Amino acid sequence: MEQNRVILFDTTLRDGEQSPGASMNLEEKVRIALTLEDMGVDVIEAGFPIASAGDFEAVNAVAKVVKKSRIAGLARAVRADIERCAEAVRPAELSRIHTFISTSPLHMKYKLQMEPDAVVQAIHDSVSMARNLVEDVEWSAEDGSRTEHDFLCRCVETAIAAGARTINIPDTVGYAVPDEYAALIAMLINRVPNIDQAILSVHCHNDLGLAVANSLAAVRAGARQIECTINGLGERAGNAALEEIVMALRTRNDAMPFSTGIRTEAITRASKLVSTVTGFVVQPNKAIVGANAFAHESGIHQDGVLKNAATYEIMTPESVGLSRSSLVMGKHSGRHAFRDKLKQLGYELGDNALNEAFKRFKDLCDKKKDVFDEDIIALVDDEARAH
Ligand code: KIV
Ligand code: ZN
Repeated sequence: MEQNRVILFDTTLRDGEQSPGASMNLEEKVRIALTLEDMGVDVIEAGFPIASAGDFEAVNAVAKVVKKSRIAGLARAVRADIERCAEAVRPAELSRIHTFISTSPLHMKYKLQMEPDAVVQAIHDSVSMARNLVEDVEWSAEDGSRTEHDFLCRCVETAIAAGARTINIPDTVGYAVPDEYAALIAMLINRVPNIDQAILSVHCHNDLGLAVANSLAAVRAGARQIECTINGLGERAGNAALEEIVMALRTRNDAMPFSTGIRTEAITRASKLVSTVTGFVVQPNKAIVGANAFAHESGIHQDGVLKNAATYEIMTPESVGLSRSSLVMGKHSGRHAFRDKLKQLGYELGDNALNEAFKRFKDLCDKKKDVFDEDIIALVDDEARAH
């Protein structure tokens, strides 16, 4: 794979489903997986097979139908998880076992109640076991961003020596900030002797709203896989949003010269599907996929966009699969935008009629926050009937 290509690992079906209230049934998971494949996602984490019979069946069903993306299943560092995961992903043309264990002092002491040496042994054993079952093994250091550096280096070196080809350093609780997270990735590249045998991956949660910024900072420091979800779905405040990462890399390729395999025109459709299936409404001002992401309300902005869209649009709506940006008509809209809207609706008014209609439109805006196409049609038709 070329040096600047970033692998996109989508975990909407696993970490995304861990959002309270976001469960999906088998048929919905298969539909989402096929959409992700069609969009060009490299790796689809389809679930956590040991978690339930339903999760196993969903991972297994996805593994049977998806051909182009690699299908991963999650497993803790225990035999039963790893064997169940291997069974679930077996039908896939390209499969992966993603095994993890916590490495931070807090997690080792309170959650695992294991000594650091025992954790290192578990890493060796779990990765070796997974490698005996599948070719492609990813190992994650849960709570990696809060792990002591010498110990993290030791864990990563052990996982690579046991056969892991992707090493993921999650910011499990969304605690990292970009410079610090990038420095952590750079530290691993500098200090782990066998690091060149693996791809470094990042998995950022959004508790401080920094998941995308942290992921991009890590890529600039040398990471080459990003784990993310559609609409930023995921535990608590969610994961890094796939659409934001991809469009940031595409739009600011001058500052971040990295590519992905994503067909960006498929983004809107995937976002709508995930929102419909989970019932999680996308906030209107959400970057890239929110209803207002390409909408212009202020008259100054509308006028600029009509003259040249680049004045207020840093990417085209078409590039994410929308047909065109919407000029939302309201009290901030100017005469130029109003004339354009009338034209779109099929009206060509002379100067006097336009002035009269614009005046009535402004009066209406004082009474109504959003003026819809139907309101404008009624306004112009009433005006025509009155004369
Ligand atoms: O957030 C996390 O640490 C995870 C791991 C299981 C990869 O989701
Ligand atoms: Zn996570």
